[in-house]
Amino acid sequence: MGDERGLQAEQEVGRINAFFPILPTLGNRWAASRPWEGTTIGLNLHVTPLSASLLRELALGGATCIVSSANPATTDAGSVELLRGSGVEVYTGGDLENRYLQVLDHGPSLVVDSGFELIATLLDKRAGMVGKIKGAVELSRTGIARLRARGPVPFPVVNVSDGRLKDAVENRHGVGEGVWQAVSLLTGMHLSGRRAAILGYGPVGRGLAAYGRAAGCAIEVVESDPIRRLFAHYDGYPTPGLGDALSRVRIAITATGRKGAIGVHDLASARDGLVLLNAGHGGDEIDVDAIRTAAVRADNVADQVVRYRLESGARVTLLGGGNPLNIVLNSGSPEPVVLHFAVVGLALERLAGEARLANGEVVVPE
Ligand SMILES: NC(=O)c1ccc[n+]([C@@H]2O[C@H](COP(=O)([O-])OP(=O)(O)OC[C@H]3O[C@@H](n4cnc5c(N)ncnc54)[C@H](O)[C@@H]3O)[C@@H](O)[C@H]2O)c1
Repeated sequence: MGDERGLQAEQEVGRINAFFPILPTLGNRWAASRPWEGTTIGLNLHVTPLSASLLRELALGGATCIVSSANPATTDAGSVELLRGSGVEVYTGGDLENRYLQVLDHGPSLVVDSGFELIATLLDKRAGMVGKIKGAVELSRTGIARLRARGPVPFPVVNVSDGRLKDAVENRHGVGEGVWQAVSLLTGMHLSGRRAAILGYGPVGRGLAAYGRAAGCAIEVVESDPIRRLFAHYDGYPTPGLGDALSRVRIAITATGRKGAIGVHDLASARDGLVLLNAGHGGDEIDVDAIRTAAVRADNVADQVVRYRLESGARVTLLGGGNPLNIVLNSGSPEPVVLHFAVVGLALERLAGEARLANGEVVVPE
């Protein structure tokens, strides 16, 4: 059974590379130049066939990769097997902090993070290691916000989240396509004529709105920032308040990067049958714990589909446990993420080179 899952992940990596071979192309280059010969890289990533594709090419360049899975809910068991089978250490168990410490115990000199949790653990709990860190790469917008809130960091942190590719391709098109595909797969709902609310009108929200509209949904946008709300308005979407939208729409998707964007109190007058899901980085944009506690009944409708009956009588269906749905289902075209990972590999190549980048946040060079 285990081998079978690993084989499936391997086939998926093969399929990705067959139609979009940017990572193996780079891997061939790295196999010749060996930029990470003798280097240990610690990575905190969603463990999926996509990240497995990157790790395979980093190993060709001489790297010893040690991985912590960024979120148990997005961890693909087959990819874990595939990686372990090829000698990559992957930590998935225990509490998150232990996973980070386990990675750091291998003494990496390069770090890749997705949410600034591995880097924060390094700074707070393994300060003695800081001198040997050549640099880090942060993948997510949430992680960059945490980096900026923290202040100076004594090594370079390449911000690939604000590179020109990430927003325009991955956040907008990758998530936009993948999340709607996941909604269709999990619910079987045809999207034409459905009314849906998108919370947040950053690149992710814009993509969700555009792909939802293209699929025939009537999209409404809930956005706390007045300028972005205006963008949504001029893109032709109604921009109601949250309570108003939830009383009307059939589907609501969070893409805010903020904890508790939908709390249980927001559901007081929700439409019966509302489907809730998250596209943002973490698993906390929808206050799932509070919904579970407040529900008078919960039914497992299908894998990743739980329906709660609230005190008001309304039924609310949560997809993917409130985790980023496209990642949970590994849905959508792999191309945008693979492009993003190619940039991560190039940033690691740059950090491993002779010339040291300045400490602190460094926007990825073009
Ligand atoms: N699922 C994925 O594969 C994937 C991929 C890329 C990014 N992300 C994540 O998606 C999230 C959004 O990314 P982005 O690039 O659009 O970020 P962004 O910060 O540019 O946009 C978020 C928007 O949400 C708005 N917002 C904040 N709180 C709100 C609230 N309570 N109600 C309504 N609007 C609110 C903000 O004003 C902002 O305009 C981030 O967490 C990011 O890490 C997920």
